[in-house]
Amino acid sequence: MSSRANPWSLPRPLMVMAPMANVTDEAFRRMFAECGPPDVFWTEFVSVEGLLSPKGRGALLVDLWHSKDEHPIVAQIFGAKPAQFEEAAALIADLGFDGIDINMGCPDEAVGRQGAGAALVADPARAAEIIRAAKRGAGGLPVSVKTRIGLAKDQLDEWIPALLEEDIAALTVHLRTRKEMSDVPAHWELAPRIAALRARYAPHTLVLGNGDVASLAEARRRAAETGIDGVMIGRGLFGNPWFFSGRVPEIEERLERMVSHAALFEKLYGNGTSPRGGRLKNFSVMRKHFKAYAAGFDGAKELRAELMETETVDAVRGVVARWIKAHPEAAA
Ligand SMILES: Cc1cc2nc3c(=O)[nH]c(=O)nc-3n(C[C@H](O)[C@H](O)[C@H](O)COP(=O)(O)O)c2cc1C
Repeated sequence: MSSRANPWSLPRPLMVMAPMANVTDEAFRRMFAECGPPDVFWTEFVSVEGLLSPKGRGALLVDLWHSKDEHPIVAQIFGAKPAQFEEAAALIADLGFDGIDINMGCPDEAVGRQGAGAALVADPARAAEIIRAAKRGAGGLPVSVKTRIGLAKDQLDEWIPALLEEDIAALTVHLRTRKEMSDVPAHWELAPRIAALRARYAPHTLVLGNGDVASLAEARRRAAETGIDGVMIGRGLFGNPWFFSGRVPEIEERLERMVSHAALFEKLYGNGTSPRGGRLKNFSVMRKHFKAYAAGFDGAKELRAELMETETVDAVRGVVARWIKAHPEAAA
């Protein structure tokens, strides 16, 4: 599907891919496009300030690369200055995205020092200005927000309505406070309250819950039990491009897919001859994927250790071929 699709008009419950820096790049997303796409794809977050600076733009445009197979796709941006959101949103609209998402949940200190990410929870007036500016620049593309429940749990009843009152297309809530990072279980018990606030303040805004979901069945159960419109999944997707299909492949297929993933990564970013130009990503980005693909079966530990040493897809192919030869029981 290459034409623009409104991600927020799809049937509910929506099952969507979380934005993850250094993870949800084009190579990663295309594995899902082939094995079982989410209802909505997300990019990793990119800085609006960087996007607008002639020096930073080249590198960040690489993070926004996407193909015709990854639709609907939402680009996530972060920053602190409303005027920059207007300009960045216009740029993103020109790049063929189906929606623009604003990050108001990142707990990273470097991001927070700029007044961006979760720091905006402390400044709802500025958060509102940012949303309005992004909408002006977006030229009709839907604008959504991803946030956390607040800086502290008792902020939910103020912070979530403040966002809903801005008439956004969708609101994703990572069900933890900023301080909790990802260290405690997500507060799914608060999801029905978020659905109730939506009903009261913005019946047309979709609300999505996020945090700790490990399977498609669990995601569907969360949506059914809480009354939210969809679930966003992050870490549960590592090494599992079949997540949204619900299929569990055999070991050999998993390893073949890992090789395809590495091959596409190298083709797009890793060999210095990308036809699309720009600063390329380092092959070491693939290591977190190797760890996840090569896990949960006998001999996985040794395989992982060897994969960590690889720097090219040819080396990955060699390691996998040797491992399969030594483990004939894993072959389909
Ligand atoms: C490696 C990594 C990178 C992330 N990068 C982003 C990001 O760029 N933007 C964002 O809004 N959240 C980011 N997150 C948070 C996730 O989108 C998600 O909210 C969080 O991981 C909780 O969901 P999960 O338990 O399903 O992983 C990141 C998380 C991880 C693990």
